[in-house]
Amino acid sequence: MTSSLATVAYIGATILFILSLGGLSNQETARRGNLYGMVGMALAVLATVFGPQVTAAGIPWIVGALVVGGAIGLYAARSVQMTQMPELVALMHSMVGMAAVLVGYATYVDPEATKGFEGAAHAIHAMEIYIGIFIGAVTFSGSIAAFGKLSGRIGGSPLLLPARHWLNLAGLLAVVYFGRMFLQAESIEAGLFPLFMMSAIALLFGIHMVMAIGGADMPVVVSMLNSYSGWAAAATGFMLSNDLLIVTGALVGSSGAILSYIMCNAMNRSFISVIAGGFGTTAAAPKPAGGAAEPVGEVNPILAAETAELLRDAKNVIVVPGYGMAVAQAQHTVFEITKHLREKGVNVRFGIHPVAGRMPGHMNVLLAEARVPYDIVFEMDELNDDFPDTDVAIVIGANDIVNPAAQDDPTSPIAGMPVLEVWKARTSIVMKRSMASGYAGVDNPLFYKDNNRMLFGDAKKMLDEVLTALKA
Ligand code: TAP
Repeated sequence: MTSSLATVAYIGATILFILSLGGLSNQETARRGNLYGMVGMALAVLATVFGPQVTAAGIPWIVGALVVGGAIGLYAARSVQMTQMPELVALMHSMVGMAAVLVGYATYVDPEATKGFEGAAHAIHAMEIYIGIFIGAVTFSGSIAAFGKLSGRIGGSPLLLPARHWLNLAGLLAVVYFGRMFLQAESIEAGLFPLFMMSAIALLFGIHMVMAIGGADMPVVVSMLNSYSGWAAAATGFMLSNDLLIVTGALVGSSGAILSYIMCNAMNRSFISVIAGGFGTTAAAPKPAGGAAEPVGEVNPILAAETAELLRDAKNVIVVPGYGMAVAQAQHTVFEITKHLREKGVNVRFGIHPVAGRMPGHMNVLLAEARVPYDIVFEMDELNDDFPDTDVAIVIGANDIVNPAAQDDPTSPIAGMPVLEVWKARTSIVMKRSMASGYAGVDNPLFYKDNNRMLFGDAKKMLDEVLTALKA
């Protein structure tokens, strides 16, 4: 393939990636967006493999790597549970980071790769390598730590080292110092020492940054690492002088940054404190006894048949799904119930919290899979004011996102996080298996409110019983 044909293919792929991102911004166009992304990626891979930068001798290696990588990817995609998606995504981000590190080292030690770079061009190329390896190493170790946290292999509470901000600052200064040493290195061998030192600091920094963040704030970390992986890819593009990788990396980096910003707003956190690391730290603060949101009283259990009766008599119902709906795979039964109630003239709507579940858009994906019409699925802000006019708010396996302590208890680790105000409905019904807390590990005063009922059991099983009772 000639160089100009490869460039045309790259431009085509870039346009498809932009269309893909545009498509993914809306549920109705998301499928098409995915398709654009897949075609764009196929085009990009083909143009690269058969492009001018690859010699015929390299093709068997690339095909071998494609087969192995593709088989692993296919296996992972087929075997992963929907609830494990964030962990998988974190692992994939770590691989982008590792790729940037390996490409950086390979480019540096390969004399061919730096041929023709003299003076300022050489310094700029060296800086690209240094910064690329730094971003890659932070992304790699941060994503591994996030994987550990999301999969429960590492505890969710924030790790607060003494003087941690000073530690970060000292690390940053050391990175600048070794950067200077790297740029002044006379030979490749001399440059390797500062490069190793910087890599070690970056790896520690990535772990430290993620470990310092509290459990409930992990969604922001996931989207931030997504953004970092984009910048790591862009840095790789600079090192390899590959325009498509630069553009694609920048697209992922900036869209991830925008998503992080949206997440921060949803969690009522400041963007700067996320970048600096170490928030969600109030989890470590002692809670004064008898605080405003301390749970009081006993819970009122309810049976599936009684739930069905309440739903049958209701005019307005809001369903709030959470992580437990994903675990129980209850979305199809939820839709069956919704269909039944709508046929009987009940106004059923869904309220989606931006961080419900374990990944951005988790609930939307599940509801779309169950074919719930998009026009009855609303974002939190769109229907939070409607709860006082709602007869029944039914919470399916959600906990933190409906916790009134976020509003009432300034000492709560989730204080300030906007929540769905289900307790303002005439009756709220919470469906879960036990009194266990949610991801943030905090108690939920909603369970003890007079107008709240607890429907204990697996969400799928309980909803099946509700559906049977409704149809009876
Ligand atoms: P959670 O607060 O984690 O609560 C989920 C509840 O589901 C649990 O209390 C659990 O109680 C219940 N449950 C689990 N399996 C169930 C089953 N089979 N049937 C019925 N109930 C079941 O979830 P949420 O309200 O969706 O809030 C999300 C939390 O995750 C937030 O803290 C958020 O910050 C965090 N987070 C979100 C993301 C993203 S991007 N969305 C990423 C990482 C972390 P039982 O054990 O008693 O059943």
